[in-house]
Amino acid sequence: MFLQNCWYVAAWEHELKETPLLARTIIGQPVVLYKAANGTPVAMADRCCHRLAPLSRGRLEGDNVRCMYHGLLYAPDGACIEIPGQKAIPRIARVKTFAVAARNKLIWIWMGDAVSADRSLIPDTYALDHPDWRYRPGYVRFGADYRYILDNLLDFSHLSYVHAATLGGSDLIAKAKAEVEPFEDGVRIRRLTLNSPQPPFAKPFLADGTNVDRWHHYEIRVPGIMSMDSGIQATGTGVPEGVRNNALEFRAYNLVTPETERTSHYFFALAHNFAIDDPSTTEKLHAEVSKAFAEDEAMIEAQQRAIDETPDLQMVVIPADTALVQMRRILEAKLARERSTADAV
Ligand code: FES
Ligand SMILES: [Fe+2]
Repeated sequence: MFLQNCWYVAAWEHELKETPLLARTIIGQPVVLYKAANGTPVAMADRCCHRLAPLSRGRLEGDNVRCMYHGLLYAPDGACIEIPGQKAIPRIARVKTFAVAARNKLIWIWMGDAVSADRSLIPDTYALDHPDWRYRPGYVRFGADYRYILDNLLDFSHLSYVHAATLGGSDLIAKAKAEVEPFEDGVRIRRLTLNSPQPPFAKPFLADGTNVDRWHHYEIRVPGIMSMDSGIQATGTGVPEGVRNNALEFRAYNLVTPETERTSHYFFALAHNFAIDDPSTTEKLHAEVSKAFAEDEAMIEAQQRAIDETPDLQMVVIPADTALVQMRRILEAKLARERSTADAV
């Protein structure tokens, strides 16, 4: 069961340049995405209404899509506007369309009723399109329920273990206590890790040998949108007071979109505001963070397999689970609200 009435990330904008008719399954629904000539994104069900062939195997003709099975032509609003060899077009000859928006290099999609799609609700990802920040867009497909990916993001104690060789570097992150504050659409988390050895991924950018203070301040909102302010600077130079002093600063976005009940899209970016004129810095950081997310992928997929093999085993909740318990509650409440609204209609 997935939330319908919310914005999901459907794609990076550059993907629509590389693949003019992009097929992507989102919350179990096959969708085809493309850009009209004026740059406006279009999303429609990836099923021709005739014999259900995927429109993503079709051909873009201006702003319209032609199914390349028997040639039906569709306008961006989903209406069939041409049936070869036939004058009259039945009114029911159309495919479902979805509200979409391009924002900060991402394509967002609203899977619920398009009339309720409020663009002001698209989450803020400003650093993805800002002159002070650099990043490379990343993507991984996880063979797991998206909620286990959210659990992972909601508890950074795993950085000490899963990411010992990349983002972590010591067990101090797991020992640091996170402040957790729920809000209507998700959870805010603040974690300081003081006087820690340098994390492996940041060593090339830090002065030799100094211990560091780190902050991870982030929010995760439904359906699976994480945005984080994080950074690293020399120990004792003001991190607990919020003073940024020769810091390595990051804005991280980890954007999780369910594909099916057991697979998920994971879009990510680690934006940095130092050495922005040095593309090799961006490349190195992207390579490190990609390695880290491959570490998450291996662990979460193994966890998913283990859960599927022994579905009756209970999980033991510990204090580190506070944020993920809160998030599940918020998600469940929103799902229940959608269900009751749907039942009332
Ligand atoms: S299946 Fe698309 S035209 Fe026949
Ligand atoms: Fe992780």
